[in-house]
Amino acid sequence: MACLGSSTALPFFVLSPTGRKRDAHRAPRERPHYPQPVRRSFTPRVLTLRATAASTSQRSLSSDWAYAATQLALAFPPTAWALKRLGRSMVIRRAEQLGIPWRRNYWLMQMQRYELEQRRARLVNRDLVYPRYYLDAQFHTYTDGNLGWMPALEVESSALSVHARLFPDAPPLEGDRRLRDTFLDRLLPYLRSVLADGPEPYRVLDMGCSTGRSTFHLIDRLLQSELVRPLEVTGLDLSPFMLAVAEWYATHRGYDEGVRMLWKHGAAEDVPEPSNAFNLVTCSLVTHELPQTATGKLIREAHRVLRPGGMLGMMDSDPHSDGFRSLPAPALAIFRSTEPYFAEYEKVDVARELQDTGFELCLTENNTTRHRTWIARKTQ
Ligand SMILES: C[S@@+](CC[C@H](N)C(=O)[O-])C[C@H]1O[C@@H](n2cnc3c(N)ncnc32)[C@H](O)[C@@H]1O
Repeated sequence: MACLGSSTALPFFVLSPTGRKRDAHRAPRERPHYPQPVRRSFTPRVLTLRATAASTSQRSLSSDWAYAATQLALAFPPTAWALKRLGRSMVIRRAEQLGIPWRRNYWLMQMQRYELEQRRARLVNRDLVYPRYYLDAQFHTYTDGNLGWMPALEVESSALSVHARLFPDAPPLEGDRRLRDTFLDRLLPYLRSVLADGPEPYRVLDMGCSTGRSTFHLIDRLLQSELVRPLEVTGLDLSPFMLAVAEWYATHRGYDEGVRMLWKHGAAEDVPEPSNAFNLVTCSLVTHELPQTATGKLIREAHRVLRPGGMLGMMDSDPHSDGFRSLPAPALAIFRSTEPYFAEYEKVDVARELQDTGFELCLTENNTTRHRTWIARKTQ
């Protein structure tokens, strides 16, 4: 993605000369309980080198070397800085060649900064204690991880760009939409059993909604299917920057009164909602950004907030898929370096976590050559 990390041939980069998080937008008043970010040492990356070399045992020796060389370059600040700078300009150039006006989109959104800032100030939960892993990580090599305007203003372009080549038969700008369709095509048939009937809205929670790309696509598909109405959809995210952009898009999309949208600043491991509140919970392209324990907590929270009979739909990268493993070695190494918790994500057995939590696993299969879908029902 978007956030791309999720899926892709080329990750995106941000110039991060010092490797330290900027504090410009972090008024202490607004983040009273934040733990101090921990400076990263280089040791973990060197360790990853061994772990990932083993996990790529199917690769040829030359690609192992290319992989190791790229990782080595990323372990040293000057070469990492140069690689990331080069990578970022390549990613932007590639996106623009594909017809995604990356820089124009960015500056158009920058012109809304005053309004976005007001929205962020209204949406931010000042009592929220961020999980430490979220503060510490430079997701997608943005200095502030997901907690900044730059990632929030670039995530749409990068989602389009990262998924542009997923479907060789589709025009590049269709890739992201097709990816989401492959997920929802699998999910929607399961919703017929829990249709809302009567004045009660059909309540949906999109965990890790980012700037609303997954949320809006879900709403559009639900409305097209005429399955449910009225709809109340909550987008939940840890980044108030992403949420501000999502809310801005929502007001410009102009849904009618049959659709109510709410944007909540919070963690998927600790959803600020009562139990048994939702008919449907979705979570796409989020778990690859989480440590293993957080994924387990997210699944347990999804179970708690779902009504009996409610459905959970999850979708993310499949690191064990042939499509993923056949990515060029340097691209894979760079990709991993932009996704701090990807090595942990590779160890998670989502299907097992779902069953251990008490879900009935309805479906798990690849929805693209590099992505996997899990659909589960809360039975009681
Ligand atoms: C890669 S984006 C995916 C966005 C969207 N669901 C999609 O399909 O395009 C991941 C989002 O998850 C959010 N996120 C990561 N960890 C989270 C957590 N523990 N709780 C809530 N949101 C989280 C990030 O802030 C980011 O906006």
